[in-house]
Amino acid sequence: MVDISEDGRTWLLSGPSSSYALHLTGADELLHLHWGPRIALADAEALAASPLPGYWPFESPLDGREEYPVEGGPRFVRPALSVRTGERRGTEWRFVSYDTAADGDGDGDGDGDGGGDGDGDGDGDGGGGRGGGAGAELRLRFDDDGVGITLHYRMRGDVVERRVTVENGGPARVELLRADAATWTLPDREGWRLSQLHGRWAAESRLTTAPLTYGEKVIGSRRGHTGHQHLPWVALDTDATEERGDVYGCALGWSGSWRIAVAQLPDGRVQITGGAGHDDSGLLLLEPGESYTTPVFAGLWTDGGFGGASRTWHAYQRTHVIPDAERDRPVLFNSWEATNFDISEEQQAALARRAADIGVELFVVDDGWFGARTSDRAGLGDWTPNPDRFPHGLKPLADRVHGLGMRFGIWVEPEMVNPDSALYRAHPDWVQYQPGRKRTQLRHQLVLNLAREDVQEHLLGRLDTLLSSAPIDYVKWDFNRCFTDAGWPGEPYPQRLWVDHVRALYDLLDRLRAAHPHVAFESCSGGGGRIDLGVMSRTDEVWTSDNTDPLDRLAIQHGFTQIHPARVMAAWVTDSPNTQLNGRVSSLRFRFVSAMAGVLGIGGDLTRWTGEELAEARRWVELYKEIRPVVQRGDLYRLRPPAGGLSAVQYVLDEETVVLAWLQAQSYGEPVPAVRLRGVDPTASYECRETGETHRGAVLLHHGVRTGLRGDLDATVIRLRRM
Ligand code: DGJ
Repeated sequence: MVDISEDGRTWLLSGPSSSYALHLTGADELLHLHWGPRIALADAEALAASPLPGYWPFESPLDGREEYPVEGGPRFVRPALSVRTGERRGTEWRFVSYDTAADGDGDGDGDGDGGGDGDGDGDGDGGGGRGGGAGAELRLRFDDDGVGITLHYRMRGDVVERRVTVENGGPARVELLRADAATWTLPDREGWRLSQLHGRWAAESRLTTAPLTYGEKVIGSRRGHTGHQHLPWVALDTDATEERGDVYGCALGWSGSWRIAVAQLPDGRVQITGGAGHDDSGLLLLEPGESYTTPVFAGLWTDGGFGGASRTWHAYQRTHVIPDAERDRPVLFNSWEATNFDISEEQQAALARRAADIGVELFVVDDGWFGARTSDRAGLGDWTPNPDRFPHGLKPLADRVHGLGMRFGIWVEPEMVNPDSALYRAHPDWVQYQPGRKRTQLRHQLVLNLAREDVQEHLLGRLDTLLSSAPIDYVKWDFNRCFTDAGWPGEPYPQRLWVDHVRALYDLLDRLRAAHPHVAFESCSGGGGRIDLGVMSRTDEVWTSDNTDPLDRLAIQHGFTQIHPARVMAAWVTDSPNTQLNGRVSSLRFRFVSAMAGVLGIGGDLTRWTGEELAEARRWVELYKEIRPVVQRGDLYRLRPPAGGLSAVQYVLDEETVVLAWLQAQSYGEPVPAVRLRGVDPTASYECRETGETHRGAVLLHHGVRTGLRGDLDATVIRLRRM
């Protein structure tokens, strides 16, 4: 909902419990007024009426107050927009118009001044904004000598989606050095803390919180993909707990290089600016008539603490971002840890029989089924089944898998090529490279230049043929190295490939999804190297981490769920001792309950599991299927963080509550504490499905439930139903 003052210079967007307000001064300065609890238009107008402090030679009153700080004029903060036109750099804008459009309305004002949607130049890049839900978009248009700048705002519940369109309506070429999707301004408070999700390969999404100090904290990726190092998310608070207190969160929907800068300015004000690209060295060239729309940078405020913030993010993604989120994800088997590159039809069929027997619903053949891919040294790029391994193609195996009552999936890594491949031998110029320099190989592979149209057409054709060649229901789309030599010989503005690669990826996914609507896609990048709202709007689940150790996973999942819902968080039960990482020994029980916190998968070598283990696995899979709607669609409460002892997560959907609890280690024989629940009705009673006991809601909330856990690496599932 958007309220607008009579003079058309103060705007108030409101969701169910929050508001966001901005104001345009007589000098066309666009100021941020409010982001927080719901207020009335009169409140916003009162805020707008308070005058700006005066100018000093060394400070600007605009800094920390401007909604979208551009470069040039009396501004000393990091600019969100940096533009070069001929000899001039910077922006001096003039307000042109505003309009509001109902959801899905492309450009409803009819004023013909351009901007808005339908730019024909990659609009929708940002994801994080699929259809559905009522809401209005507010668009504010500015002009700087023919360069049009449109700021877009849309409320999705209590999430504000922002993005910007820059359109070259003038006669000369414009160089976009930087165009952030949004700058967020926090209220004047003391003692801000910054939470972020950092990591590396096999150790993604780890939550860390630290006080902000003066200056800037910059996170991002200069790797060409979202990266394992940071999820594009930050949260700011002063004194919030898991369930109480003000939390501001921002998340970017972009799957390439990106940057979020959190600045505490000299007067203590805090702003967060972010968008595509890590540097300001050039994003795109806009020829006359061309435009660029940034990805979505979404933000939310809640007074419900970090848990409240997560639940708002999750609901937003389930409603507006994730395709078909109302449909639960199946239990999958993935062959990677079981067979690595050593694949054959018979051996996959043997795994499939065991997988079907324990209740798996989707069988995925990972790396190694195509070309000359018998190790990571060859074959990437040649997306036809290896004739020795699959002499009659994938169809016979797919048919066998279907015959066992499961869906069939395959692994691909379309953006890459091994130099030892037919594709590279035919097209050595299709990769990113700098003329006259060596082509850096990581994992023996090079990155295809997806910005090239011929590469795009080739990939679309190959993948389309592949998906038509066999009854394939699922594609795990991997990306296993960063950009290093992002050159494009012959292209006048080669750095555009950073943005255009991501656009091409999105376009490929969109076109494949449209052509094969029954096929689901998983985003993987060596585990969690490409997880963000952009890719999430085009894929059905994500591979959270290559780390399948069930204990490490608890911390990774704790971080992941700060922003993303369990509905997309793939988690596999693998072998013990853990083969991938650390040799840790853990019970099937612990491994299952850890993986049941998200989208359950099995990744162990089932041909080596004993009859007893398989029978136990079958019981866990059965239990998971029962609790799955609650886990995948319910409200998630992190009851206790994984910090060495007892940790627990709770999911609530309608009358059903599920608690998953894990005990890392019991010390000194001390009793394990009861777990206090959230989200239950204090006046209701709940029946425990495990014990048959009745629990009073008030008791569950204030005194908790005993888990019965003891010793090391123990875990349990508690199901409660409101009576
Ligand atoms: C990295 C992925 O994260 C793994 O799950 C597996 O698919 C390998 N790539 C295959 O090369």
